[in-house]
Amino acid sequence: MSLLDEIKAKAAARKKTIVLCEGEDKRVVEAAAQITKEGIAKIVLIGNEAECKKVAPHVDLSGITLIDPLTSDKTEKYAEILYEARKAKGMTEEQAHEQAKDRTMFGALMLKAGDVDGYVSGACHSTANTLRPGLQVVKTAPGIKTVSSCFIMIAPNKNNPYNPDGVAVFADCAINIEPTAEQLADIAVVSAKTAKDIAGIEPRVAMLSFSTKGSGNDDKFTQSVPKVQQATALAKAAAPELALDGEFQFDAAVAPEVGQLKAPGSKVAGYANVFVFPNINAGNIGYKIAQRFGGYMAIGPVCQGFAKPLNDLSRGCNVEDIVATVAVTALQAE
Ligand SMILES: CC(C)(COP(=O)(O)OP(=O)(O)OC[C@H]1O[C@@H](n2cnc3c(N)ncnc32)[C@H](O)[C@@H]1OP(=O)(O)O)[C@@H](O)C(=O)NCCC(=O)NCCS
Repeated sequence: MSLLDEIKAKAAARKKTIVLCEGEDKRVVEAAAQITKEGIAKIVLIGNEAECKKVAPHVDLSGITLIDPLTSDKTEKYAEILYEARKAKGMTEEQAHEQAKDRTMFGALMLKAGDVDGYVSGACHSTANTLRPGLQVVKTAPGIKTVSSCFIMIAPNKNNPYNPDGVAVFADCAINIEPTAEQLADIAVVSAKTAKDIAGIEPRVAMLSFSTKGSGNDDKFTQSVPKVQQATALAKAAAPELALDGEFQFDAAVAPEVGQLKAPGSKVAGYANVFVFPNINAGNIGYKIAQRFGGYMAIGPVCQGFAKPLNDLSRGCNVEDIVATVAVTALQAE
């Protein structure tokens, strides 16, 4: 069974309820029907029947709960939740009533209220518009200040000596552009959790750099080496039980002979399977190299660090991508 099939099967056993915010999108309506048919999750679709029938007339909507923020009797209650969450930021009651009718905000408020277990959107909204409602009202998990993302990278086979698990986690390739040391430490801790809970691997976390244990120096330029060193210390302090170390070049992280030479005594050097990149440039380029040159399949971006699970789809997603994202979201739910 592939990792994706395992994720779907585990999700189905959990019977979580996931809100899909974009009932106006044909792919989302088709995915809602497929997820319902396969029993992967219970779906609440934001939209109305006439609209869903218009974009996807061939789809059987039975078993899907449709909800329209413009007519729902829940909108009032959600507006109050929104007002409470945002009044300190200057939101008025009137603004809260208006914004609660927005479909992505409505979905995030359903999640905040506990009426659904997870949220998936982004098929026809940008990353910022998809995640902002979650950042504003759902906020981060206890002990974590940074929402981030990772890709679960699945190898084409298990013959690669540098990735014997056949699975790896790359972070953060999609949200935090130039994370601080504190943010990198958060990214490391939550990526280890994603590796365990979703990818099903025992995490060994490498904090990546162009330097291994002080071999490189960029004092005159970006200070990125000290940043990764500081992040490593912060992450170790926050999660002392984790197998986590750095700063490592990629070869020192995955090749035992290089790891032993450059970081003798490290339990992670040479054996890492969770990779924390120093910024989004490195992470985004890195996962695409693995995809295109290495033949890896990338699941994600999986958002992590929220108090409750929210995930962002790519606007180029297909029905299968939406089904997979819903399954991952169901596994992230408490
Ligand atoms: C995550 C992102 C979408 C947030 O954008 P934004 O809504 O413009 O963010 P803002 O700075 O206006 O912040 C909105 C709120 O979210 C919070 N926030 C923003 N980023 C956060 C993060 N990574 N973790 C936790 N909270 C965050 C802010 O503190 C703010 O909270 P407040 O209003 O309660 O004070 C932004 O970082 C982004 O656009 N990242 C790059 C995404 C991208 O282009 N990816 C490429 C895809 S491959």
